[in-house]
Amino acid sequence: MPPAPYCPVPSRVSLNAHLYRSGAPDQLRHLINDIGRAAKYIQFAIRTTEAGLAGTKNQFGEEQIKLDVLSDQIIQQNLWESRLVSCFSSEEMEDVVEIESRNPYAVVFDPLDGSSLVDANFAIGSIFGIYEGNTIIGRRPREQVAALYIIYGPRTLLVYTIGKGVHEFILNEVGEFILLRENLGVADAAKNYSPGNLRAVVDTPPYRNMMNIWLDEKLTLRYSGAMVADIHHIISKGQGVFANVGGSKYPQGKLRLVFECGPFSFLMEQAGGSSSNGKDAIMDIMITATDQRTPIIIGSKTEVDRVCKVLSSK
Ligand code: F6P
Ligand code: MN
Repeated sequence: MPPAPYCPVPSRVSLNAHLYRSGAPDQLRHLINDIGRAAKYIQFAIRTTEAGLAGTKNQFGEEQIKLDVLSDQIIQQNLWESRLVSCFSSEEMEDVVEIESRNPYAVVFDPLDGSSLVDANFAIGSIFGIYEGNTIIGRRPREQVAALYIIYGPRTLLVYTIGKGVHEFILNEVGEFILLRENLGVADAAKNYSPGNLRAVVDTPPYRNMMNIWLDEKLTLRYSGAMVADIHHIISKGQGVFANVGGSKYPQGKLRLVFECGPFSFLMEQAGGSSSNGKDAIMDIMITATDQRTPIIIGSKTEVDRVCKVLSSK
C-alpha cells in the first residue's frame, strides 16, 4: 500500500499533553489552555478586523473596535470564564481587576504588543505572566509560575515556560497548538542586536557608544519594533541581544516591567539567557505600580553583561 498522506495526528504533541507531561498542576494547565483559546480568537480578529474583510462589523457582529481593545476584551472574557483567576492586570487598563480572591492565579498581560504595526503586516503578539495568589503589586517577576507569549506572524506560535525550559508550539489548521521545538536555548554570545528606543542615543552617550561597538564589530541588526517579535527572534535563533534604555523622553525606557519585561525575563532565564535593567536582574525588581517602566537589556548572557558595563560607563 502507498504511504498514507501526511497526517499530523499520530505523532502530534498538543500544548495540553505537553503541559501534562511536564508536570504542570492541573489548574495551571487549564489556565494556559484557556489563554491559548483566547489567542486563537485574537489571531482570527487580526486577519479580519480593520482589514475590511468583515465590513463594518467584527466577527462577533459588533461594530468594529480597535484590535488592541478587542484583544483585551477577548482575553478578559477567557480569564473570567476560566474560574481560575483571582485578579488580572492588563496593559490596556490602569487598575488591577479583582475577580475572586480565592481563585489560584493572578495574571498580567499585554493583549497586543506591537499593535500599531498591524497595518504594515509585521508580526505582533500577546504576552502573559502568571503568579500564584491574588496580588500583583509587591511581587517580583521571579515569583511567576508561568510566562508565555503568542506571536501572530506568518505562523501563529505559542511559547511557554512553567520553569522547566522553554517550549514552542504552532497553531495548526484545526486550531490546536502542536509542539514544534522543546527546550529552546540561548547561547552566551550574541551575533544579532535589537536596539530599541534608539532615539535615546541623542541624550544618552553610552547608548551611542554601544551602538558604535555593534556597528564596528559587524553584528547583524534585527529589529522589528514589536518586542514580542524581537524577543522571539532571539529565542528562536538561540542568540542575540535586545535593549530598550532610557533617554530624555522616556527616562526609564518605553517598556513595562509587569506586562513585557517580567514575562520575557522569566522566559529568557529559562532559555539560558539573562536580563537586566543595567544594574539588577529584572526578575528581582519589585512591582510597585502596574504602569512601572524599566530599562531592559535581555538576551545572550555575555552580551547582556557587556551592554550593562558600557551603559554604566561615562
Ligand atoms: O509596547 C511598546 C513597543 O511597541 C514594543 O513592542 C517595542 O519593543 C517598543 O515599543 C518599540 O519602541 P521604539 O520604537 O522606541 O524602539
Ligand atoms: Mn507592548
